[in-house]
Amino acid sequence: MELRDRSGRGREATLFRSGADRVPRGLGEVHVLDAFCPHLGAHLGVGGKVVGDSIRCPFHGWRFSGDGECLEIPYAKRIPGNARADAYPSREQAGLAWAWYHPQRAKPRFEPLEIPEYHTEDWAEEWTHYAWMIQTHPQEVAENSVDWPHFHTVHMMEPPPERDVRFEGHEIRCEAATRKQVTTMDGVPDEIRVIGRNPGLGTSYVRYSGMGETVIIMGMTPIDNDTMHMRFGVIGKKDGRTDEEMAAFIKLYADDMALAVEQDFPIWENKVYRSTPNLCDGDGPVPDYRRWASQFYVES
Ligand code: FES
Ligand SMILES: [Fe+2]
Repeated sequence: MELRDRSGRGREATLFRSGADRVPRGLGEVHVLDAFCPHLGAHLGVGGKVVGDSIRCPFHGWRFSGDGECLEIPYAKRIPGNARADAYPSREQAGLAWAWYHPQRAKPRFEPLEIPEYHTEDWAEEWTHYAWMIQTHPQEVAENSVDWPHFHTVHMMEPPPERDVRFEGHEIRCEAATRKQVTTMDGVPDEIRVIGRNPGLGTSYVRYSGMGETVIIMGMTPIDNDTMHMRFGVIGKKDGRTDEEMAAFIKLYADDMALAVEQDFPIWENKVYRSTPNLCDGDGPVPDYRRWASQFYVES
């Protein structure tokens, strides 16, 4: 019989809101800890209890603060100096919880972007969201946005005729304009403008204007070596629509966008990564993209 050592697998994390036992649901501060207790390895997220601003392990009752400090051992006179749970720096921004992972525990290099539209008047209250588990890597997802020729073959649309992509520090910034036949909105062709920002490989923020104004956020979370959790959320500007009209508009719009996202899945799930691809003059700025992406890796 083998003892269960999960060290060779992907990491697991436990997310909790401090004060979840005393504040109304959803208002406590978000904390992310390594899931396995530093004592004897119980999973803090399975049976653990939030106590004020801390979480109590279900196995022997050790209690940890949101930054991992051991606050109490109910049966010990002294807390060992190395009794710490690994904590991931975390933030909550526009209704989204973020955690920063660095294999050498380096501090966050950048903050999540603000989304000023969120929770302002005339914008949809909450994200309409979708999630998938896909067999791919986050780097493949962002590469897709600068890979122009695939728009035609995979998404049945012309690549944006006007486009400007810049790789600046930890961000990709892009602006594009295209005319797309929008089948879900009476089939009326409309000029769509897209402004995108990708801070790092784990997320992208896109603002669309055309038949409506929307903000789309995508989150790409690697789960293990082969699997990625992908999230996609949309908020839209009401522009005089009633709540029901808005809900119907966002549903049609987001379903259409989600279908476009799904069109890439069979390619991503079955492709290999070519580190020295054969490119031609019509390809997008793939080499620039890859140079940019390399800043998010460290020597193992
Ligand atoms: S394993 Fe968590 S307190 Fe013992
Ligand atoms: Fe694509």
